[in-house]
Amino acid sequence: MNTAPVNTSTVPAIAPPSAPPATVPAAVPAAASARSLAAYAVARVIREGVTLDSALKDALAATPITLAPSVKSLSYGAVRGYYRHEALLGKLLSQPVKALDVLVRALLSVALYELEDSRTPEYAVVDAAVKTAKATDAARAGGLINAVLRRYLREAKLLNTEVGRNPATRHASPVWLADRLRADWPVRWTQLLAAGDAQAPMWLRVNGQHISTEEYLLKLEAAGIVAQAEARVPYAVLLKTPVDVQDLPGFAEGWVSVQDLGAQCVAFPLALSPGLRVLDACAAPGGKSALMLEREPGLAKLVAVDIDPNRIVRVRENLARGNLIADLITADVSQTSKWWDGVPFDRILLDAPCSALGVIRRHPDIRLRKSPAEIDKLPLVQARLLTSIWPLLATGGRLVYVTCTLTRSENRDVIGAFLRGTPNAKSVPVESWIGWPGLGEADEYGRQILTGEAGADGFYYAALTKI
Ligand SMILES: C[S@@+](CC[C@H](N)C(=O)[O-])C[C@H]1O[C@@H](n2cnc3c(N)ncnc32)[C@H](O)[C@@H]1O
Repeated sequence: MNTAPVNTSTVPAIAPPSAPPATVPAAVPAAASARSLAAYAVARVIREGVTLDSALKDALAATPITLAPSVKSLSYGAVRGYYRHEALLGKLLSQPVKALDVLVRALLSVALYELEDSRTPEYAVVDAAVKTAKATDAARAGGLINAVLRRYLREAKLLNTEVGRNPATRHASPVWLADRLRADWPVRWTQLLAAGDAQAPMWLRVNGQHISTEEYLLKLEAAGIVAQAEARVPYAVLLKTPVDVQDLPGFAEGWVSVQDLGAQCVAFPLALSPGLRVLDACAAPGGKSALMLEREPGLAKLVAVDIDPNRIVRVRENLARGNLIADLITADVSQTSKWWDGVPFDRILLDAPCSALGVIRRHPDIRLRKSPAEIDKLPLVQARLLTSIWPLLATGGRLVYVTCTLTRSENRDVIGAFLRGTPNAKSVPVESWIGWPGLGEADEYGRQILTGEAGADGFYYAALTKI
């Protein structure tokens, strides 16, 4: 180890941040290591607000494929623990954490994740973090990184105990998010924080048009993949350990898709039957469109609309894999005069854009990218979408409102306000949803699956009918 020991208990302050302008990604060094690629990806999430997946896609584009698993696991680990690391750094540094250069901050999170993960010897983590800093734009911070990590190692037990006392920092949540969850779920909020901090399981949806769940379980067994069916949600299969989709029997042939259990519950309030005309109003990447077409091949029509042309491509790919057919439209669904043929729909699925707090365990970068101000704007967007597509529903038809979030403001309150302002809209009681397996907590209008319940992501469902 070539790093000198640090004797002081207070880490020296560093120069003010010298981060590049917000939209300009820092250049990744030519001979990049997994650690530096991970840190640059994390830095882009912090600085530019891009998703971690898109930052990783760019980072890995010109990288040997062998580095990809380490870059992914380091960056996900750093992002997952980001706010716990922030609390630790707050105790380790003599200056505000926010004053750190973004890349230095990201490098520290990568290293703290490695120390928490404890698969790499401690000395090697510190050594590698300092070397990585020296090989990047963070070269000047090598001494600081060395000092911070060494002090963390000396005081880890005490620091982790202190940080663990607060449920928000224990579960690596920003304080504002913990406060929101506590306000909406006063009894469950710490459980929700813990669920958001856990690793998400891999759920499959078996395509009953091709193969039964029982037969598919046998195929998995033959392939050496341990799995079990979730009897309460037909076609849902839980894998003991996540696998690469290419290793799933019949994946390319559309026998099976990856879809969370909570998302698969959409089938219950929809109550599909042959001959129905269905609109999937916010369809991309097409998971629920595919589910509807698999469950009810006798639909008269499925129209799948999404505003994002790149994401519509993914709907096309997902449906093509299962030989499923829908009318795909790229449009703002609320501008109905631009795309609707005037024939009413019997079912409308509005899987609305939302704060996605129910899927944080899959996308931990949500905690870095969302802000309370942004979340507060969403109910207006959701209400506008509901109001603009309501005229497209046939009398006696059903609209199912879905989000993958946990805030009452985006769920119960949106539906409540819509019902109050729409005399021909009526709530379909949750008790009448055939097949609903008793998941979730009911509110006045719908049902909230809480993250982690039965292994599912957090989803909200409400069904409305037109009178
Ligand atoms: C939660 S995702 C939908 C997930 C999808 N239903 C599935 O199960 O795969 C929300 C989608 O709404 C789309 N969206 C947002 N605003 C929209 C609008 N005004 N019109 C149509 N689509 C919109 C987004 O592009 C995004 O793909």
